[in-house]
Amino acid sequence: MWRFILNKMEYKYPVASPCFKGNERKYLEDVLNSGIISSQGKYIPEFERDFADYNGSKHGVACSSGTAALTIAVQSLHLNPTDEIIVPEFTMVASAWAVEYGGAKPVFVDCKDDLNIDVDKIEKRINERTKAIMPVHVYGRKCDMDRIMDISRRYNLRVIEDSAESHGIKPTGDIACFSLYGNKIITAGEGGIAVTNDDSLDYQMRHLRSMAFSADHDFLHPKRANNFRMTNLQAAVAKAQLEQLPEFLQRRREIEGYYNNGLTDVKGVKLMPKRDVVWFYDVLVEKRAELQKHLKENGIETRQFFKPMSRQPMYSGNKEITWKNLNANKFGETGIYLPTYVELTPEDQNYIMDKIKEFYSTHRD
Ligand SMILES: Cc1ncc(COP(=O)(O)O)c(C=O)c1O
Repeated sequence: MWRFILNKMEYKYPVASPCFKGNERKYLEDVLNSGIISSQGKYIPEFERDFADYNGSKHGVACSSGTAALTIAVQSLHLNPTDEIIVPEFTMVASAWAVEYGGAKPVFVDCKDDLNIDVDKIEKRINERTKAIMPVHVYGRKCDMDRIMDISRRYNLRVIEDSAESHGIKPTGDIACFSLYGNKIITAGEGGIAVTNDDSLDYQMRHLRSMAFSADHDFLHPKRANNFRMTNLQAAVAKAQLEQLPEFLQRRREIEGYYNNGLTDVKGVKLMPKRDVVWFYDVLVEKRAELQKHLKENGIETRQFFKPMSRQPMYSGNKEITWKNLNANKFGETGIYLPTYVELTPEDQNYIMDKIKEFYSTHRD
């Protein structure tokens, strides 16, 4: 079966493919029958409650995207434009943009070999303007949260976890934000959710999510806010997906093990450290562009690693000196991730790995 993938290209083996084997259809039909497809429906509070419970958090604030969740998380800290938030170099650009949408300035810190923020380098970037740290659990590997929380306590900083790629890693910061985009471990097509134990941050985020309406909806808005509300349709799918999260995580773990076994001794491929939860199976490869071309010709989609934030055009992208020697750049240039989704079979994985081996057997130095 050939599948349509997120970017409209057609691959037999896309990098991601959602699985709707649970209550998705049942809940969606319920929503349609109720006529309440907007953000006022019952599935939104139900999903928020279930997601918060799963994470051991007191509150969940469902949003239209992971970026929206991160943005209201930053906005809820009420920062000034000169205030700074520490963000990893190696992340998806939405982490940095959310800091700017939230009215502050991102300050970047390079990554370690597991792609997560190098905690040893955080303190050097802290000054009187620093107000928060945003660790990102990249590709499902948990950051060193003990040390990050210790730094945050010593410098009185807030911690907003970007957990977009790490459903299943339990939050430790003030707020953790998850994405429900189509390629994520659980999905609603688009969507996101912020969780927190703090009543005041919860209140602020709800207010900021929905136009800062007052309780009696009198159209007097005390501050500028957003429409980042999730719809009842999204929440119905998200709730059904959440019910299957433990099963999805288990299946993804098996996929990781199978790739590990098959790729261990393949010359040209370097395995990455174990993941705490498996979002994508990431590897470092030689001759990346040629390998990707070969796999594409055989119906296999791969994606390249993130590029460092300092390399993005809006963050002094033209000054190579700022990003050329970063660890994040080294990894960004050699990494790819392979198809990783719950309905991928061992036979599918054998085919994918055979094509990788085939490439390296014909492309020796
Ligand atoms: C690390 C990270 N942060 C934030 C986001 C943004 O999430 P969304 O696409 O739901 O806005 C993503 C993914 O898309 C991500 O991978």
